[in-house]
This record gives sequence, C-alpha cells and structure tokens, in this order.
Amino acid sequence: MSDLLVIHGVNLSLLGEREREIYGRSTLKEIDRKIREISEKLGMSVEIFQTNHEGAIIDRMIECSNKAKVIILNPGAFTHYSYAIRDCVSGVGVPTIEVHLSNIYSREPFRQSSVVAPVCLGQISGFGADSYILAVKMAKKIIDGR
Ligand code: DQA
Repeated sequence: MSDLLVIHGVNLSLLGEREREIYGRSTLKEIDRKIREISEKLGMSVEIFQTNHEGAIIDRMIECSNKAKVIILNPGAFTHYSYAIRDCVSGVGVPTIEVHLSNIYSREPFRQSSVVAPVCLGQISGFGADSYILAVKMAKKIIDGR
C-alpha cells in the first residue's frame, strides 16, 4: 500500500528523446528517480506507473482507490479528450493532482483544455520535471491535512 500513486500516461515513456525543446532532456527514469527521492525524504511511499493505454490507467486507479491517499496524474494526450479517465478520477474519489511538463495553455488550441482538470484537486503545468516535484510536495500537504 502506497501513499502516492503516480501515473504517467501515453507517450511519456519517450521523454528525453521526444520534442526536447518542449518537454526537456530528462528521461522518465530520471524523473521517476527524483519523484522517489523527494517522496522518501517527505516520508511517503510511492508507486509509479506508465502506460500508453487509457483502460490501463483506469484499471490502476480503481485498483488503488482504497489504498493511495493521493494520485498524481499526467494523462498525456488523454488529458484533452478522455471522458473515461475524467469519470474514473471523479468516481474513485482519491484526491488527484493533474501534472504537465509543458504549459498546456501556451500551446496548440486542442491542448488548451483539459477534460480531467475539473475533477482534480488542482493542476500543475509548465515547470518541466519540476511539475512532478511540486505535485509531490503538495501531496504531502494534502496527506498531512494542509
Ligand atoms: C503533456 C501535454 C499533453 O498535451 C501532451 O499530449 C503530452 C504531455 C505534458 O506533460 O506537457 O503527452 O501531458
């Protein structure tokens, strides 16, 4: 049982190779190492999961729904159209922080809306790999009752 469940969605396994000018040079492995380090420092256990499949995100959130205290979720492109992920976030009722490396509001019009954000506690977007670090710190506050 982990305090935190971090989910990286579609195409995030390509970080470090993919559009570096937008997403930076860090690989997902490096980002995950930072997430584990900061979580451990803050005394939280963490489970990290990457998938390119919408249904796998949903299955994992449901599996962890009565275990994880906070979910940190970067759905990748699913952000912009997955009503199924949105319904799952709202259905499982675990406080969820939506994360993006890039600032989705400064990009193409189709990226400027998130169908998931309205059912999340909040969103962190635009700080590269540090978006995840900020989310972990916020998760700690949420778990501690702020
Ligand atoms: C992203 C933004 C999405 O629009 C895009 O499809 C991604 C990554 C981000 O972290 O900036 O895959 O979620």
